[in-house]
Amino acid sequence: MDKFVIEGGHKLAGRVKISGAKNGSLAIMPATILAPGAYHLTNTPNLRDVWTMSRLLGSMGSFCELNGNDLFIDSTNLSSFEAPYEHVKKMRASFYVLGPLLARWGQAKVSLPGGCAWGPRPVDLHLKGLERLGAKVDVEKGYIMAKAKQLHGAKFHFDISSVGATGNVMMAAVLAKGTSLLTNAAIEPEITALARMLVKMGAKINGIGTTMLEIEGVHELHPVDEETIPDRIEAATYMIAVAMTGGKIELQNVNPYHLTAVVAKLEEVGCTIDVNNNNIVVEMDKDPIPSDMTTSVYPGMPTDVQAQWMALMLRAKGDSRITDNVYRDRFKHVPELQRLGAKIELTDNSAIIRGGKQLSGATVMSSDLRASASLVLAALVAEGTTELLRVYHIDRGYDSIEEKLVSLGANIKRVKTDLI
Ligand code: EPZ
Repeated sequence: MDKFVIEGGHKLAGRVKISGAKNGSLAIMPATILAPGAYHLTNTPNLRDVWTMSRLLGSMGSFCELNGNDLFIDSTNLSSFEAPYEHVKKMRASFYVLGPLLARWGQAKVSLPGGCAWGPRPVDLHLKGLERLGAKVDVEKGYIMAKAKQLHGAKFHFDISSVGATGNVMMAAVLAKGTSLLTNAAIEPEITALARMLVKMGAKINGIGTTMLEIEGVHELHPVDEETIPDRIEAATYMIAVAMTGGKIELQNVNPYHLTAVVAKLEEVGCTIDVNNNNIVVEMDKDPIPSDMTTSVYPGMPTDVQAQWMALMLRAKGDSRITDNVYRDRFKHVPELQRLGAKIELTDNSAIIRGGKQLSGATVMSSDLRASASLVLAALVAEGTTELLRVYHIDRGYDSIEEKLVSLGANIKRVKTDLI
């Protein structure tokens, strides 16, 4: 097991190259199931979750190899339609193979993903959408068994905007017989990028980037090479880091259009931000101003930035409220932030942050990916030394985070430990 040892109090300065998006890779890797052949997915982040998805596809017969940020997948010999519990339990995004397996084989057996660190993660919309396309779906011993002799086009409305369900249903619909109309589809950049890749593979999709997707099923698709979009959540995390420590950093290899809400909120709290084609410069020379924040689906403030925003509000002199409307129980980071001296009160899906109190270093525990990021940010400004345990959580979604932070002037070390 590794831990981070972080000494607070250092301003950040310099340049940081943002990696490809974890949730971008996890959306397009399952698409390689739809058409046998060789794919070259560039700008792939070197992350635990990418390794997990690669192992899952490998267990089904595909060849997967990550060289640096070049991911080579060959699904020619893909022969299984089963995603076993041993893989799915490690990462719920493994569930994203359900739709493509059903489309390729006419059947799929995928373990139910279960919950995650902060609570239940239902998949009812995934299943309802696939049933509308003609699949027979049963649950047996913790597995989803889906069968369809021939998927057919259908209209389906997502009661809740769901990234994963949109991906699964869209990847099934592209090989269905007939036309589908998906309404209230997710428009997160990772889903839009998936749709664009499917079109490159030969799919017929209209309305890409909107909540209404019209999909005309085709008989077959072909493999392609694709570049993974930049990670907007990683970028937001570094932008918030400098907003907390003070200083000036330039983020390279970002898509500013994916960060409009984050840029607006950081300007509101006092950051100076320059946006160019594929880089963003963030400068902060004072304490942030308290600012309430409510998460929502794209293009609103992402729930994946909620924990990091909370760390920022601890620096603001005054009270602020954070409400998470996407995951109402995503507050596992609160008790650990309180160990650093944070004053936070939770009521339902909101947190009141009593900001402005100097945090002091302590030993804290990671519980999930974004909670870990929030603890790293808080440690950057805490007095003294903080030890963050179970950093494997952060390795799931941040490529080389300690190297990047050290290059920006932070004092953070990765240390082996027997403590778990
Ligand atoms: C994706 O998860 C992301 N993961 C999550 O990022 C992100 O927090 C989430 O989208 C929301 O943006 C990946 O892309 C791998 P959803 P996903 O289906 O697809 C409810 C991270 O930190 N819902 O959009 O699982 C659900 O409970 C991770 O990188 C249903 O009710 O999220 C939630 O309230 C964490 N029924 C809301 O929809 C369903 O069938 C949005 O969930 C599906 C979802």
